[in-house]
Amino acid sequence: MTIYNRCGNSGVLLPKVSLGFWHNFGGDAPFERSRAITRFAFDNGITHFDFANNYGVPAGSAEQTMGRLMDEDFRPYRDELFISSKAGYLMWDGPYGEWGSRKYLMSSLDQSLQRMHLDYVDLFYSHRYDPNTPIEETLQALVDIVRQGKALYVGISNWPLEQLRLGAKYLREHDTPLLIYQGRLNMLNREPIEEGILDFCREEGIGFIAYSPLAQGLLTDRYLSGIPADSRMAQEHFLTSDKRTPELLAYLHELEQRGQANGRTIAQEALNWVLEQKGVTSVLVGASSVEQLKNNINTILS
Ligand SMILES: NC(=O)c1ccc[n+]([C@@H]2O[C@H](COP(=O)([O-])OP(=O)(O)OC[C@H]3O[C@@H](n4cnc5c(N)ncnc54)[C@H](OP(=O)(O)O)[C@@H]3O)[C@@H](O)[C@H]2O)c1
Repeated sequence: MTIYNRCGNSGVLLPKVSLGFWHNFGGDAPFERSRAITRFAFDNGITHFDFANNYGVPAGSAEQTMGRLMDEDFRPYRDELFISSKAGYLMWDGPYGEWGSRKYLMSSLDQSLQRMHLDYVDLFYSHRYDPNTPIEETLQALVDIVRQGKALYVGISNWPLEQLRLGAKYLREHDTPLLIYQGRLNMLNREPIEEGILDFCREEGIGFIAYSPLAQGLLTDRYLSGIPADSRMAQEHFLTSDKRTPELLAYLHELEQRGQANGRTIAQEALNWVLEQKGVTSVLVGASSVEQLKNNINTILS
């Protein structure tokens, strides 16, 4: 069984499971744990690591962790890795530290490269659509970033369908085809399907990578019997305890039973569901331990 999928109609193959560095890899996480998860991922064929400028606590520290890992472990394997970053959300003070201006995107990517100790990223994304910047300015900045050799491919994340259409057309006409769209897709949130984004990507030969495929951990056994102190939900920030409803628990028990029949865990059921959607290239998972990642790739990458 191949563990890679072709990304749209491009020349790029991505692993069916990719690793995201949003949580658990920042300056507040134990470095040796981050290192063990990253090494385990790569050793098991996960060649795609996903960042954004603001990932980690403090913002930017997940990319700094990657910089240290490049120096200590990964430099000899640079050409075997597909590393992405993004800019769009608030990163620094003043008028140039967020959204979609050329000024912000270009400065932000330079900062990301410095933090990760890289000469280029494989993929650079606009992290969100900016309604107050001319769409051509954002798109031309992406084109020029590729021309400058600072990114090999460009991506778009979280843009509405109408702007995605315009973006794909503009990028194609400027010889920088849109490689991939990054959107939130999981069994509890099917917006990219309902809004026609996944179909559009498939029809246009654009890859689709699903973020939060486990709904930040809701679609696992993590919260079946309470809220563990070391979990994302315990932080009550990006994942809040009001999401742990009786309906969710009933759904999880259903998934657990279905999983038992298929020889899969709840997380494996959830990831397989996303990967079965036509047009999905990869699921972009997070993990706070090697064990979690091992569980997630089992039955998919083995
Ligand atoms: N483009 C965007 O706007 C955007 C937005 C969000 C995310 N992303 C990308 O998507 C990546 C993944 O997002 P995510 O972290 O929300 O993904 P996720 O895979 O839905 O959730 C990951 C969390 O689920 C828990 N978990 C994972 N595997 C588990 C297992 N086998 N058993 C029990 N619990 C398990 C862990 O929670 P604990 O930490 O509590 O252990 C882990 O941190 C991010 O790192 C980022 O690269 C992009």
